[in-house]
Amino acid sequence: MKNDIQKILLSEEDIRKRITGLGLEIDRHYEGKEILIVTLLDGAIVFTADLIRNLSIPLRLDCMRVSSYGDSTDPETAPRILSSLKTDVSGKHVLLVDDILDTGNTMKRVHDEVLAKNPASVHSCVFLDKPDRRENDFRSDWTGFSIPDEFVVGYGLDYAGRFRQLPYVGTLKPSVYENS
Ligand code: PRP
Repeated sequence: MKNDIQKILLSEEDIRKRITGLGLEIDRHYEGKEILIVTLLDGAIVFTADLIRNLSIPLRLDCMRVSSYGDSTDPETAPRILSSLKTDVSGKHVLLVDDILDTGNTMKRVHDEVLAKNPASVHSCVFLDKPDRRENDFRSDWTGFSIPDEFVVGYGLDYAGRFRQLPYVGTLKPSVYENS
């Protein structure tokens, strides 16, 4: 698996340091409050696991699954909520957590869905942001790293379902695409 990696963009150490910083910022923002973390499956699992262990504020956890889709903006293929929350978000401080903000369509869809349920607040935290790819005005409140428009894997991000377990973020060798 490591032999499939062309270049490491973010090392384990880069990621560890940044998440420590994010934890401090989020703790400070929500001081004295309890939050509900909403993780978007599957990619955000790894980031969420590390982020919550860097938070001191009281929190609860819930998950949401949103349909995968291509680059199309066709409403037929727009993100759909496949499994919604177990928790009643009314009156709660919700923090949406995802691995990557790409077109922004997934986060915007989820943000609107949660906001319609009368939470006390809705904020978002993404591990990676590709601002060049944005198709709407969605902006994350906390971002781990802004990266160029390159296809990356690792730390929760996959290629055809693989490479999520890599502890760093990297690009793939062309041979991986050619052989799949
Ligand atoms: C990825 C990623 C985000 C979404 C971002 O999910 O996890 O949820 O795409 O893209 P967008 O900003 O263009 O909407 P994917 O559908 O690949 O599923 P996964 O989380 O299971 O990898």
